Amino acid sequence: MSKMKAAVFVEPGRIVLESKPIPDVGPLDALLRVTTTTICGTDVHILRGEYPVAKGLTIGHEPVGVIEKLGSAVSGYEEGQRVIAGAITPSGHSNACLCGQHSQDGAGTPHGFRPLGGWRFGNTIDGCQAEYVLVPDAMTNLAAVPEGLTDEQVLMCPDIMSTGFAGAESGGVKIGDTVAVFAQGPIGLCAAAGARLMGATRIIAVDTVPERLKMSRFLGADEVVDFKSGDPAKTIRELTDGRGVDVAIEALGTQGTFESALRSLRPGGTLSSLGVYSSDLRIPLDAFAAGLGDNRIVTSLCPGGKERMRRLMSVIASGRVDLKPMVTHRFTLDQIEEAYDLFAHQRDGVLKVAIAA
Ligand SMILES: NC(=O)c1ccc[n+]([C@@H]2O[C@H](COP(=O)([O-])OP(=O)(O)OC[C@H]3O[C@@H](n4cnc5c(N)ncnc54)[C@H](O)[C@@H]3O)[C@@H](O)[C@H]2O)c1
Ligand SMILES: [Zn+2]
Repeated sequence: MSKMKAAVFVEPGRIVLESKPIPDVGPLDALLRVTTTTICGTDVHILRGEYPVAKGLTIGHEPVGVIEKLGSAVSGYEEGQRVIAGAITPSGHSNACLCGQHSQDGAGTPHGFRPLGGWRFGNTIDGCQAEYVLVPDAMTNLAAVPEGLTDEQVLMCPDIMSTGFAGAESGGVKIGDTVAVFAQGPIGLCAAAGARLMGATRIIAVDTVPERLKMSRFLGADEVVDFKSGDPAKTIRELTDGRGVDVAIEALGTQGTFESALRSLRPGGTLSSLGVYSSDLRIPLDAFAAGLGDNRIVTSLCPGGKERMRRLMSVIASGRVDLKPMVTHRFTLDQIEEAYDLFAHQRDGVLKVAIAA
């Protein structure tokens, strides 16, 4: 049996490059030879044991590659074609998909709905930090990379661009809106870029890391607020003459940023939450106008599927958004343990790493 190199979760604190069999291709699958991938903040949670996955699972959910082999029932693609697949790989036929909630694809049980069902790579099935990855439901998930775009140009599409943009889209950003984005990690940066693309004309980004605030101005923000220099919600209310923002996007997943986002909204504004929270949230009565503020609170899980990927790549191809500068460091798959070390410790101003085959 042929073998491949794959970054495997061994135990908390250890993701190790190991040799694994190249997977067999089922009728609906496609086998990709991964040419470039990256590491996500979520992978760091997996590394630290904060998000449990099975021992021996290959990590990674952001693949750019070439079709090596197509399943017998897959049509519309060719072997050798350059493609990406989203971090979320919906089946296309679940109830959630048919309700339009592709990311939540997953079986409902008599005890409730299993959330996050669409997130399979590096979660419930082997992921793409490997020489090869098996893409399930290939006809729902494979999107051809337009001629002329490099791997690094489309590397953000599978996850952080899709997620960040979803923050602006779910928030219902409109032309002329004022938008605040709390946290300018890769997700928040993409949310700011998405808000600008949707027509927001004043974007206020909150973080403290100088390189990130600089990137934020490049990608979307008109103004930046350092959360270490005072209460950011108060600063935002001052900057908007007491009016508050139309949409506040939360891109960290903490009580503090959620609360600041709520407190910076205008009456009737929308809090669009992207962060992954690790404890219960409290909604302070005053920030919530006792339930009478006409506010909306919405959440989003990274949208996947080939049509979403096609749209995101068309944004890149149009030149309206350029996320390539977010790739600050480059490694090969053989160096992935080193890449995890740098990325997990946020050393050397790292934003995103590219891992090439
Ligand atoms: N909804 C989804 O589908 C989805 C997908 C991927 C990631 N996420 C989540 O999105 C969040 C952000 O991910 P990331 O990779 O961009 O994170 P990151 O850790 O790279 O960046 C977080 C940023 O937050 C900043 N920060 C810290 N405290 C802050 C504060 N009080 N106010 C403002 N900024 C603050 C940090 O300086 C840093 O720049 C995480 O919770 C992640 O799990 C959600
Ligand atoms: Zn991710």
